[in-house]
Amino acid sequence: MTSPNFRRFYNAFREIITIVHSTPDIEELMELVVWKIVEILSAKGAIFRLLNLDSDELELSAAYGIGKSYLEKGPRLSHKIITDLCLQDRVILIDDIHNDPRIQYPKEAEAEGIKFIIDVPLTIGNDAVGIMRIYFSKVREFNEDEQSFIIAIAEQCSCALSKARLIESHELKYHQLVLQTEKLSSLGRMAAGIAHEINNPLAGILLYSSNMAKKVAPDSRLKEGLDIITHETVRCRKIIQELLDFSREKEPKKQPFNINEIIDKALAILENEFRLSRIEIKKNLADNIENIMVDSSQIEQVFVNLLINAVQAMPGGGIIWINSSISYQEDLIVVEIKDNGPGIIVSELDKIFEPFFSSKPKGSGLGLSVSYGIIHNHLGRLRVESDGVNGTSFLVELPILHQDN
Ligand SMILES: Nc1ncnc2c1ncn2[C@@H]1O[C@H](COP(=O)(O)OP(=O)(O)O)[C@@H](O)[C@H]1O
Ligand SMILES: [Mg+2]
Repeated sequence: MTSPNFRRFYNAFREIITIVHSTPDIEELMELVVWKIVEILSAKGAIFRLLNLDSDELELSAAYGIGKSYLEKGPRLSHKIITDLCLQDRVILIDDIHNDPRIQYPKEAEAEGIKFIIDVPLTIGNDAVGIMRIYFSKVREFNEDEQSFIIAIAEQCSCALSKARLIESHELKYHQLVLQTEKLSSLGRMAAGIAHEINNPLAGILLYSSNMAKKVAPDSRLKEGLDIITHETVRCRKIIQELLDFSREKEPKKQPFNINEIIDKALAILENEFRLSRIEIKKNLADNIENIMVDSSQIEQVFVNLLINAVQAMPGGGIIWINSSISYQEDLIVVEIKDNGPGIIVSELDKIFEPFFSSKPKGSGLGLSVSYGIIHNHLGRLRVESDGVNGTSFLVELPILHQDN
């Protein structure tokens, strides 16, 4: 025969589990749970206080059965108290609210009709995430079974909390990605407009300055000035050309190609560069790689851009690892270009793909935005990983698309 208590707990537990898994909204969930706990334990009230991860302070997340004026006043448990509580991993019974250091406002508690309190820790893994506090209007016994029951409920709440936080952080990441893509495409359109406008006057400046330079005495000051004008104008034209390449979003001319061959070509182009800058290349290419549909010259440009950036990040020399691999799970070919340079600080990671963002005195800031556009047009992804200390890793992910699609 099962004890009546067991049956009561079992039913209550099932009800709470249903609530916990019914909503991804943390606040709604906590509200439902405190209400249910009060009902099951015939308590006076219950609250949840969760640790705010940003401020490291406990915040009231849900309350039931307790007056607002008392809740506003306290109790404000310190982080230390809840961490200690969580480390003990058990419930704490407070039957003398006047003399327990955990109760910061005993008079107010008394006025509220509170005689007995139970604190239950909420943990995710080894981290304290909050506390569930249950209030009673008279002191009562709590046997082991009842305490285990309350802990089991707290565990379910912690699980739901961790799930909800995970969903929230995924949504945030997805949102940032959408924003980034939108920002890049509108910047691209703006850049295209400016590039078109500037291209013609530049051609005029170049024509007149080089014609004039031919007509003045070769060793005059004027000649020197005109040469500088010509030289700088050529530089502007180069930047504009890159910008046009980026913004024109040239439709890739795709043909079946072996990515490893494209990597080898890019490495060959930069061979001298590597030698001069004392860069060691460590190559590890997947040997079973199949041909995929790509515009080989565009992809080569991407690899060259990423490799040049890595070289430039290591003026005193260093190592570049270049790997290709296949992700069968996602049907992708992944090329990683990694260096052991200074890395990119986290706050700059979302800026580097913007056109014109450059930390170099003579950088155009277009290499990565052009590369991003190219990979995007191949339905792939260009990602960066860096913690600002241990080098930088760029990942080019290309879908395995066959000729027929
Ligand atoms: N491998 C790398 N290591 C450190 N920083 C990098 C690396 N690759 C790119 N960056 C950062 O991203 C910026 C933008 O790169 P890019 O668009 O190629 O423009 P540019 O090379 O002209 O500066 C660089 O100025 C640099 O700050
Ligand atoms: Mg660059």
